[in-house]
Amino acid sequence: MSRSDSALDTAILTALRQAQEGSVSGADLAARLKVTRAAIWARIEALRALGFDIEASPHHGYRLLSAPDRLYGDDLKSRLGSTRIIGRDIRVFQETNSTNDLADRLARDGAEEGVVVFAEKQSRGRGRMGRAWASPPGLGLWFSVVLRPRLTPQSATQLTIAAATAARRAIHRVTGLEPDIKWPNDLLLDGRKTAGILTEMGAELDKIKYLIIGIGVNVNLAEADFPPELRRVATSLRQVLGRPIPRPELAAELLRELDTDYARVTSGHFDAVAEEWSRHCRTLGQRVVILQGERRIEGRAEGLDHDGALLLRNPRGRLERIIGGDVMLGS
Ligand code: BTN
Repeated sequence: MSRSDSALDTAILTALRQAQEGSVSGADLAARLKVTRAAIWARIEALRALGFDIEASPHHGYRLLSAPDRLYGDDLKSRLGSTRIIGRDIRVFQETNSTNDLADRLARDGAEEGVVVFAEKQSRGRGRMGRAWASPPGLGLWFSVVLRPRLTPQSATQLTIAAATAARRAIHRVTGLEPDIKWPNDLLLDGRKTAGILTEMGAELDKIKYLIIGIGVNVNLAEADFPPELRRVATSLRQVLGRPIPRPELAAELLRELDTDYARVTSGHFDAVAEEWSRHCRTLGQRVVILQGERRIEGRAEGLDHDGALLLRNPRGRLERIIGGDVMLGS
């Protein structure tokens, strides 16, 4: 597909979604997009072949009846509209090892910030602490965003916190559910993991060169779609809600909210993000055990520091800053 076909598909889907009476005539679309009616017809046929149900009536024109539960860059762009940074360029792959690896390669090759890569399936999805992340085809949202924030490497945690806050809001908007946040960036429903975030970066001592935020959301997985060892600790939006969620709608909402919170952090308003995060974090105020490899740190989680580190009051009454590890709720 040529570049102009892709731009045309985004513009046609946008026009169909915005249509006042629900329909747009071929002549109207052709005039607006400065192409022939035959070119519009050809793209409508191509969109139909992808699974978009588009009604064509001689009197009213074209009407979008439904969209497939597949990820297409043009469809996501049409749903997202314009954003400041995130989602300027959206690429969808059927399969890759890990979207974080793909985004890392793009960033090293000079990709501008805001590029997003989705994969319908990851063959080696990665979680935090070297764990695997189950990413079966067509059931979740597995994606990574390339960012180039003007922040020090020490402040990168702010963006992980922001990503968790944004993802939580997007899930709430689309499903009405209220996920809890577990420090630093897990989203839980009914105490089970529903989404996770893996932040990685290329940095010099005092400067982030690029940062990759990788997000995995268990959207429509059934219990049997998880590996057996995860079935008791992980869940999906579908399992909790009892019905499937349209992934493209959630994908666009995630990018929109990430764009909002990226702007909040980079314009110096991390305090507002931290306040929202704290309201939904079930780790704060609790006695917790943090596991950092062999190291075990106990204390009471009291809040976030200015750079996103967790402030832990240890048994001797001193505040410790924690910037990594696994948190378990203590006894
Ligand atoms: C975690 O909670 O351990 C983080 C999970 C992050 C998973 C996502 S899926 C998209 C991106 N690509 C990866 O390989 N990992 C992240």
